[in-house]
Amino acid sequence: KLNVHIVPHTHDDVGWLKTVDQYYYGANSSIAWAGVQYILDTVVQQLSVDPTRRFIYVEVAFFSRWWREQNTEVQQEVKRLVQEGRLEFILGGWSMNDEAATHYNAIIDQMTLGLRFLNDTFGPCARPRVAWQIDPFGHSREQASLFAQMGFDGLFFGRLDYQDKETREMKLKMEEIWRGSQSLHHPEADLFTGVNENGYNPPAGFCFDAYCKDDPIMDDPTLEDNNVKQKVDDFISAAHKQAKHFRTNHIMMTMGSDFQYSNAKAWFKNLDKLMKYVNSAVRYKNSDTEWSVKSDDFFPYADAPHQFWTGYFTSRPGLKGYVRESNKYLQVCNQLETLTDKIIILPGAAMGVAQHHDAVSGTSKQHVANDYAKRLYIGWPLKHFIIWLKIACFCRAADIAKTNLTFCDYMNITLCDFTQNSNRFTAVVYNPLARAVSKYIRIPVDCTPSYIFVVIELVTGARLTTQLVPVSEATESVRRNRGNANCELVFLAKLPALGYNSFSIEKYKSSATNKRLFTPKGKVVNPSDDITISNEFYSVNFNRNSGLMDSIVNIESGIKIPVHQDMLWYNGSMGNNASKQQSGAYIFRPNSSTPFHCSNDGKVKLSVLTVNNFYVYNVIDIIVKLIVYLQGSNPLVQEVYQKFSDWAYQVVRLYKGIKHIEVEWTVGPIPVKDQWGKEVISRYETNIDSNGYFYTDANGREVLERKKNYRPTWKLNQTEPVAGNYYPVNSRIYIRDAHVQLTVLTDRSQGGSSLSSGALELMVHRRLLGEDSKGVAEPLNETGQFGDGLITRGKHWLLLDTVTSSAKQHRLLGEEAFMSPLVM
Ligand SMILES: *[C@@H]1O[C@H](CO)[C@@H](O)[C@H](O)[C@H]1NC(C)=O
Ligand SMILES: *[C@@H]1O[C@H](CO)[C@@H](O)[C@H](O)[C@H]1NC(C)=O
Ligand SMILES: *[C@@H]1O[C@H](CO)[C@@H](O)[C@H](O)[C@H]1NC(C)=O
Ligand SMILES: *[C@@H]1O[C@H](CO)[C@@H](O)[C@H](O)[C@H]1NC(C)=O
Ligand SMILES: *[C@@H]1O[C@H](CO)[C@@H](O)[C@H](O)[C@H]1NC(C)=O
Ligand SMILES: *[C@@H]1O[C@H](CO)[C@@H](O)[C@H](O)[C@H]1NC(C)=O
Ligand SMILES: *[C@@H]1O[C@H](CO)[C@@H](O)[C@H](O)[C@H]1NC(C)=O
Ligand SMILES: *[C@@H]1O[C@H](CO)[C@@H](O)[C@H](O)[C@H]1NC(C)=O
Ligand SMILES: *[C@@H]1O[C@H](CO)[C@@H](O)[C@H](O)[C@H]1NC(C)=O
Ligand SMILES: [Zn+2]
Repeated sequence: KLNVHIVPHTHDDVGWLKTVDQYYYGANSSIAWAGVQYILDTVVQQLSVDPTRRFIYVEVAFFSRWWREQNTEVQQEVKRLVQEGRLEFILGGWSMNDEAATHYNAIIDQMTLGLRFLNDTFGPCARPRVAWQIDPFGHSREQASLFAQMGFDGLFFGRLDYQDKETREMKLKMEEIWRGSQSLHHPEADLFTGVNENGYNPPAGFCFDAYCKDDPIMDDPTLEDNNVKQKVDDFISAAHKQAKHFRTNHIMMTMGSDFQYSNAKAWFKNLDKLMKYVNSAVRYKNSDTEWSVKSDDFFPYADAPHQFWTGYFTSRPGLKGYVRESNKYLQVCNQLETLTDKIIILPGAAMGVAQHHDAVSGTSKQHVANDYAKRLYIGWPLKHFIIWLKIACFCRAADIAKTNLTFCDYMNITLCDFTQNSNRFTAVVYNPLARAVSKYIRIPVDCTPSYIFVVIELVTGARLTTQLVPVSEATESVRRNRGNANCELVFLAKLPALGYNSFSIEKYKSSATNKRLFTPKGKVVNPSDDITISNEFYSVNFNRNSGLMDSIVNIESGIKIPVHQDMLWYNGSMGNNASKQQSGAYIFRPNSSTPFHCSNDGKVKLSVLTVNNFYVYNVIDIIVKLIVYLQGSNPLVQEVYQKFSDWAYQVVRLYKGIKHIEVEWTVGPIPVKDQWGKEVISRYETNIDSNGYFYTDANGREVLERKKNYRPTWKLNQTEPVAGNYYPVNSRIYIRDAHVQLTVLTDRSQGGSSLSSGALELMVHRRLLGEDSKGVAEPLNETGQFGDGLITRGKHWLLLDTVTSSAKQHRLLGEEAFMSPLVM
């Protein structure tokens, strides 16, 4: 007997073509009619009238809203439906989160928020047993591990590589045990995982929604149009066809799709009839419940040749960065709440919404992306207030409770009116990590050459070493007419675990003696001199002719290898004869595998900052002048500024005592006047013998091995040599050989790959004019607040070390990139 499980469901995106509010009410209906309130209204009504009917519901962000609007009578009825298993919650997250651009911390939070609502509202009987990730564009192993550890019995999803799916159908591997973790003892992270036959849609001919054109079941025997026999035959044949791909005599049919069931009656009436007429026994093979085991993941996802969903790993880098930054604030609030007894309800819902598979993924329409960012932003002042309140309670060193705690959201572009206009203030620096760290803090200040700054650590009274770093050309071009801080004041803050330290900062008019120190002493550098910056751990060399990074020396381990770094761009495809597929918000498809230089002729303009306590700064066009201003050795930070073009800059930094190299990239507005979309990458080329292997993390947790043009579970027919080798990088990517490892840590999710031995690349930004026909129907053509293309700035941290030593460092460093200190 073949058991066909009919699963009526609706897929309600928490924002995509419309904002989450517009979807709930059904507003902005010219784009799509969808209105979730009507879905829940009519589904509940239809379940109530017939106790044999069933429905599953997923997104708690929508359900919790609807619930609040119901009167007690309806709420009682819904409780009864839930108790009796007629309305069943599946997954139960606030949203159905993306798996490629999310951090595990945010996944856990968004699941907690939804599941807690269900438990608080309906009690433990409403606890979802099955995870339901039917729409996300590829699936991460960490997600499976988390679900297993949350106690789910199984996971179902719809999207996997088309070749993978064909192979699974053939080998009866549509259902498997997914081993979600390399490090946990199985079965701790084992999860039963099923691939849906039709994504999440009904079989052809059986969509009974207002959105569909399939005929209803017309069963009056006296009518000419009676189609019962036809429908029953079609259904049985669809069921048999599907059953051929599965091992047991149980198969599932997903009856519903995007925003369906707004008139639930049409669906239920026809499903009732269908089941009534089909309910005849079908002979079938004996069930065989030996499951195969899978231990890799489902990235990257391609739904056809040339159609790799690897662009969204990087799409909307500004939003991806903002989601990460907002997460930090949320964690700080949570931590501070735990440390006191006062409980304040936190704005975690905006973060839950932001994890949705069209939110942080960057695949929504522009007005929806703006709405996600706005929701996050609305939470910030409240978070600031909570942090202020808590810090004030704890403050012993200074009487901060009586003063104002100021937060500057744009420290990343050296913008903070308060610090640049004050002569004395206190910086409070909170460390959200559960271990003590020492971190360099950079405060925007006015350093017009007659001021000196004194920084005192309040708890010890110690005067700290400081350095003034002038604002770079790149920063000026990003902030334009905003702010006038001309320096960043740099000092090292020692921070306790889950705690803060305070620093008094005072600005003085300097005496004549001090003034002298501000006068730069020029030193002509011999053309043969290397351009090198160094600290105790690394020295980084730059090529005098090209201005590019050339080699890195790890002083401790004695590793010295060529490391050639460049910023390049792929030209987005507009489709060709092989396939009409264009590069867009979801899809990455370069016009050519060979990227172009961001700089015009492969040469970048280079300037160097190697100074003492006070500042010296000069743009040195090394090709023209070859003058570097030096004033003794510099105490805290050495920086090399690279200008690739008017829209691509980098700063390479080495801080005293810090065991990694910081590379800060600033990209945008990406020029599109030539009508070519551009996908900008940072590429490292080394002599590491990596031989096609590279390693990327899953949601900031465990690391998976990748191999170029290879998939562990089927023989790959590669149709896109670049895009088909891209993987999500949430926190780190590395290449290695027997001895040496190069690791790059990121501050947000990006796509990355290794396309040749010894090379590694990360896509940092993309702007496209085409449309990839995957639903969003808008080019990914982001603009910033000044109307031209979006400018984004972010950081990469580099480690070059032995394989053993790298393994010890990258995990801790990943945490530090994720939870950097909060400066107030
Ligand atoms: C409705 O959608 C369109 C198209 O994306 C958008 O331009 C418009 O701003 C939206 N309207 C509202 C009120 O958000
Ligand atoms: C679920 O709710 C009950 C009260 O209905 C509470 O006792 C229990 O701790 C909750 N469980 C979780 C995991 O929060
Ligand atoms: C705090 O800031 C507010 C608004 O800027 C101001 O009105 C108030 O006087 C300040 N309080 C103190 C104690 O400085
Ligand atoms: C960039 O791609 C477009 C569209 O595919 C193509 O027409 C154009 O020639 C390409 N430009 C270069 C420099 O290859
Ligand atoms: C692409 O297809 C068109 C029409 O099918 C044909 O005329 C053209 O020659 C093809 N171009 C290439 C480069 O194959
Ligand atoms: C790249 O652009 C060129 C020139 O328009 C075109 O001939 C070629 O087919 C394009 N390739 C892809 C993959 O888009
Ligand atoms: C690989 O895929 C392409 C595109 O679908 C197809 O034309 C080709 O025949 C396939 N190659 C093999 C060996 O299957
Ligand atoms: C992309 O954005 C720019 C700047 O807003 C605009 O001028 C241009 O028309 C847009 N192009 C497309 C294809 O949307
Ligand atoms: C700087 O940070 C703010 C707040 O996180 C963010 O909105 C903005 O996009 C960032 N600027 C750049 C250039 O990345
Ligand atoms: Zn969706």
